[in-house]
Amino acid sequence: MTGVIDSSRLPELLRAMPKAELHMHIEGSLEPELIFEMARRNAVSLNYPTVEALRDAYVFDDLQNFLDIYHVGTKVLKTEQDFYEMTGAYLARARTDNVLHAEIFIDTQTHINHGQSAETVINGLYRACSEAPTRYGMTASLILCFLRNLSEREAFECLEQALPLRDKIVGIGLASGEIGNPPEKFTRVFARARELGFRLVAHAGEEAPPAYIWGALDALKVERIDHGVQATQDSALMQRLVRDRVPLTVCPLSNIKLKVFPSLARHNLRQMLDAGIVATINSDDPAYFGGYINENFSQTFAALAMDSRHAYQLARNSFEVSFLDAGTKRRYVDQLDAVFEQFAAPN
Ligand code: HPA
Ligand code: ZN
Repeated sequence: MTGVIDSSRLPELLRAMPKAELHMHIEGSLEPELIFEMARRNAVSLNYPTVEALRDAYVFDDLQNFLDIYHVGTKVLKTEQDFYEMTGAYLARARTDNVLHAEIFIDTQTHINHGQSAETVINGLYRACSEAPTRYGMTASLILCFLRNLSEREAFECLEQALPLRDKIVGIGLASGEIGNPPEKFTRVFARARELGFRLVAHAGEEAPPAYIWGALDALKVERIDHGVQATQDSALMQRLVRDRVPLTVCPLSNIKLKVFPSLARHNLRQMLDAGIVATINSDDPAYFGGYINENFSQTFAALAMDSRHAYQLARNSFEVSFLDAGTKRRYVDQLDAVFEQFAAPN
């Protein structure tokens, strides 16, 4: 990479640079307008009179409080076309932020509990992802997340239901209410997913202590940690993450909305990057947390006075720790390098 690019051009650089998004829940991209439209066409009644009233309810005390409202939005999704349209809307929006690759979380258990089949859900999402190269000029793949508040048996059932759709899913993850649902609860089902050849990730250390990150690494044997921001409380864990180059998919605006940090200025992303952690920036649930990926980049960089070297590192990490093949990663990193060279060149 070239030297530091002038800070006056940093906001433009953050928007223009190619990036991958590796931590976003597709249901968390449902904007209130789309929730209302789908509620109307599927005859689902919402307890909010207007789009504005629903958006005004997006104020949260913690993760559980958010998950309760998020769950209301998931009830409007009924048909394969709904899942397809939701995913298409996210991909189109992400591409405007120069996201060239997205790995999308889906919790099929939520929708199966609402009466949809795994096929309806996965086929709708997969159709949008498979059209992404031609429609949007990007790539996208799917990670199926178990809901950790449900039982191990239900996670096994979820995995079983997904097996006929095996080729449409790249990985398995773990989401939902963290505290009281440690990774060890899912050791056996993650071992089974690993045998089946799935790539593995898990939310850990979003709200819960560093022990949950140790558990995700040692019991679940995941390749990436989603969030992981509580790691800075444990120096042995920090050493492990740096030594083994364990990627963290960090979601700064989510952490502020869910009160994990009191403000962006107090976020530990810069501290972690400067300590050698392989971090990335992501939006988590962009319709709920006040911004898509570029908004996460621009607000975090301003709050933590980060520079173009951090930007390059974050964008490069996002491609390198993705589940893409080596050739596609190289092609995207070349595109990233070309943008940085263009910004470094004298005008
Ligand atoms: N954390 C855990 N589970 C989730 C989240 C999150 O931020 N968003 C959607 N499911
Ligand atoms: Zn998440």
